[in-house]
Amino acid sequence: MGKRTEQAKPLDAGARLAPRRDFPIFENWPDLIYLDNAATTHKPAAVLSRLDEFYRLTYANVHRGVYRLAEEATAAYEEARRQVAAFIGCEDTGELIFTRGTTEGINLAAGSLDSLVQDGDEILVTALEHHSNLIPWQQLCRRRSLRLRVCPVTPAGELDLAALERMLTPRTRVAAFAMVSNALGTVVPAVKVIAAARQAGAVTVVDAAQAVPCLPVAVGDLGCDFLVFSGHKMLGPMGIGVLYGRREILEKLPPYMTGGEMISRVGWDGAQWAELPQKFEAGTPNAAGAVGLAAAVRYLEEIGMDRIRAHETELGRRARELLGRIPGVRVLGCPAACCGIVSFVVPGIHPHDLAQFLARENIAVRAGRLCAQPLLRTLGVEAVTRVSFYVYNDLAEVEKMAEAVEKGIRFFKAKK
Ligand SMILES: Cc1ncc(COP(=O)(O)O)c(C=O)c1O
Repeated sequence: MGKRTEQAKPLDAGARLAPRRDFPIFENWPDLIYLDNAATTHKPAAVLSRLDEFYRLTYANVHRGVYRLAEEATAAYEEARRQVAAFIGCEDTGELIFTRGTTEGINLAAGSLDSLVQDGDEILVTALEHHSNLIPWQQLCRRRSLRLRVCPVTPAGELDLAALERMLTPRTRVAAFAMVSNALGTVVPAVKVIAAARQAGAVTVVDAAQAVPCLPVAVGDLGCDFLVFSGHKMLGPMGIGVLYGRREILEKLPPYMTGGEMISRVGWDGAQWAELPQKFEAGTPNAAGAVGLAAAVRYLEEIGMDRIRAHETELGRRARELLGRIPGVRVLGCPAACCGIVSFVVPGIHPHDLAQFLARENIAVRAGRLCAQPLLRTLGVEAVTRVSFYVYNDLAEVEKMAEAVEKGIRFFKAKK
């Protein structure tokens, strides 16, 4: 991991926290400025070699065989669970369920919570939601005749906390919200939101897909009932994610999927569920993914989540500042607390055209609806260009991106 720890001083704000040489993909794409980290992040060699090692040295199905190889595979999987649980401050590994990712985690929560709701109950989400934390709740509302309420955002892109207080009522059964917006980078005051929701008697579900990669998250401090995230957005493999759930509530809920390995006893007439966490992990799990995610967690811990948060904030702030100075650019939202995600529009230039122009300049960004179509419509736009940063980005890349945006605007204006 080379010089990463030597760069720990606060003075070098904006320098890479992780050297590009740690990431084999950049050997193949040496000139690429990768600014699509909110979609997915690249993998350090430490994660790739851990995956390779698992398949080469300790691969077998887990929680089944009694031979030594199977026992070692199971031990590696359970050790990964312990490390990932510790990373989010979860002391009881029974509360840490491996999933395919955030989307599956939210579907699991919404599917299982079906058993706790009654007709006429309300579910509260916020206007910041990614489709993954909206559609599963819409579906639950349809199935059970519930009312979905949406807490608005201010023009700055912050949650309207006064409205939230008003909208939380004794009818609110579930409050589900993104801790960090994938479109505006807003860092939502999660502790406040959870405390208010709990006071109203609601079950709290935190979509931490963009939060766990960039800030220190401790479920005990948050006091949430559920928290979900994806490995691939935090240097880990695709196809692995986490649902943290409070034991007390997980024990009350029925399993989301049924089948092998989630039972303790089966007869022709029925079955008894296994203890946590197996009750929610039906079928063969992605054990290699879990082991790879634990390697990603170790890599991030070595850098330090406080430093990652400061780095992202710094790059995001600079991107907002530089983009905001370009005539014709509208940066969406200006939340007081935000991380390294910035979306913008240039009236008269389609975000896809601008993204294609940036691609020719070797800069990878996202353009489109960002799986947040209702939010974008609320903000009066159909699509945006988004830049998002991570540990291997630096201020020089932010500056190159802003210069390229300016050049792109000149290019498209000249064509008109
Ligand atoms: C806030 C948020 N929630 C949910 C998701 C869905 O994550 P996944 O596709 O890994 O399931 C994303 C992905 O971009 C996201 O940013």
